[in-house]
Amino acid sequence: MGEGTEDPGPVKVGSIDHVALAVPDLDSAISFFLENFSAEVSEAVTLAEQSVRIAFVRLANADIELMEPLSRDSPVGRFLDRNPEGGLHHICLATDDASSAHAASAARGLRPLNIPTPGYHGRPLFFLHPKSTLGTLVEIEESEQETEDA
Ligand code: CO
Repeated sequence: MGEGTEDPGPVKVGSIDHVALAVPDLDSAISFFLENFSAEVSEAVTLAEQSVRIAFVRLANADIELMEPLSRDSPVGRFLDRNPEGGLHHICLATDDASSAHAASAARGLRPLNIPTPGYHGRPLFFLHPKSTLGTLVEIEESEQETEDA
């Protein structure tokens, strides 16, 4: 096997950062949470490169990410084709070090879909193919660091 045979161990994760719901209409979804639950909801933001408009429902221990596709020919758009009323799209687990988590994921056959890339929060994140994670898309996002050493 040569170099690289050292087992990196399990993928190190801490808390749930957020769960994400795909929704057909973001403004309706925001209104739904504001009217029915005592939660704050962030402003809607467009992420053109991911072809989504998103907002975050802020809860005490984690957020709910609401995602509306900007086009039907996008990952979230295709998800809504299969689930027209929307539904659970992914869960996001926080890690201290996205690069290490990515390497450990790949070493364990968890099929990372991308290399760690800065997301909405500016912190590196990647996704794991749901076929390798019990049927649910998993996002791994680096948690906020206490100190900046760059
Ligand atoms: Co997410």
